[in-house]
Amino acid sequence: MLHFLDFNNLSDARIQALLKQTLAYSQQPDNPSYRQLLKGKIVANLFYEASTRTRVSFEVAARRLGADVINIAATGSSIEKGESLRDTLETLRAMGVDAIVVRHPQTEVLHRLLAKHDLDIAIVNAGDGCGQHPSQALLDAATLHSSIGRLAGLKLVIAGDIKHSRVARSNLQLLPRLGVEDIRLVGPRQLLPEVCPENVSLMTEDFAEALSGADAVMMLRIQHERIDGLELPSVADYHQRWGLNESSLKWAKPGCVVLHPGPVNREVEMSNAVADGPQSLMREQVAMGVPARMAIFQLLLQSSGVKID
Ligand code: NCD
Repeated sequence: MLHFLDFNNLSDARIQALLKQTLAYSQQPDNPSYRQLLKGKIVANLFYEASTRTRVSFEVAARRLGADVINIAATGSSIEKGESLRDTLETLRAMGVDAIVVRHPQTEVLHRLLAKHDLDIAIVNAGDGCGQHPSQALLDAATLHSSIGRLAGLKLVIAGDIKHSRVARSNLQLLPRLGVEDIRLVGPRQLLPEVCPENVSLMTEDFAEALSGADAVMMLRIQHERIDGLELPSVADYHQRWGLNESSLKWAKPGCVVLHPGPVNREVEMSNAVADGPQSLMREQVAMGVPARMAIFQLLLQSSGVKID
C-alpha cells in the first residue's frame, strides 16, 4: 500500500509525474470526465488540528474525481473519548474507506504508526506537527512553475519561522529535487534551525542579504501553537526586520513573486499592500491546492489497482 507521508520514498519519476499531473489538472479541474475516475471510492478527512484551505481542498479534490468524502473533526467524534489514532484509522478501514487524509499536531505520528503497523489503507499526511506537509509543497512547486514557467535555477527565499514549519521542511525535500538550486532561509535566530539544512545555500538573520536577487519569496507565519518558552521579538520589531512590505520587497529581483501558505498574519510577516499586491501568488496557491490533491489521490489509488490517466 502506498502512502503519501513525505517525498523521501518517492522516486524522481513519481515526483515529476505528480507535478505534471497537477499542472494538467489545473488547466480544468472541474472537467466532468474526471468525475468517473474515483467513482465509488470513499475518502475520509481526519483532522486533529484546525484547517480551512487544506481540509476543504482535499475535499474538493476528492469530489472533482467523483469520490465520496467524509469529514471527521476531533471534536464530536470518539477521539474526544480518548480513542487512539490507530483505532480510528482501523475503524474507518473496516467501514470500507479507501483513503484517509490526516492532520495531526504530533510530529512524525504517521511515520511511527506505519513503521509498526501495516494498515491496509492509503494514508495522506496533511500536516504533522513540525514535521511534513507534502501536499502544500507540491502545490507551491506547481504554483511557482505555472507562474514563472520553470523551477530549474530559481533563487528562492523562505522567511520567518522555519524551525517550526512543516511547509518549509517539505519544500526543502521537494524543491531541490525539481531543480531549485539556490534556497535561502532567513528569520530571527531562535526561529531558524540549529544546523543549516542540506540543500540550503544561505541561512541568515539579514533579510536584505537573503532577498538580494531572489526570484521568489515564501513567507511563513510564526507557529505560536508550537512554540514554548522562546523569547520572540515584538510584532513591531518582527515586521521591521523580517516583514515583507513594499520597501523590503525591493531588495529582491524586480517582479519577484511572493508565496504564503496561509493563514497570513497581516502586518506581521507581510503587509496588506504586498499580500494583496500584483506580486502575490496567494490566490493561485489556494487554487492550485485542488489539482495538487487530485494528483495525489490519483497516485495513491492508481497504485492500489485503479488505472487512471
Ligand atoms: C500551514 C500549515 O498548516 O502548516 N497552512 C496550511 O496548510 N495552509 C501553515 C501555517 O499554519 O502557518
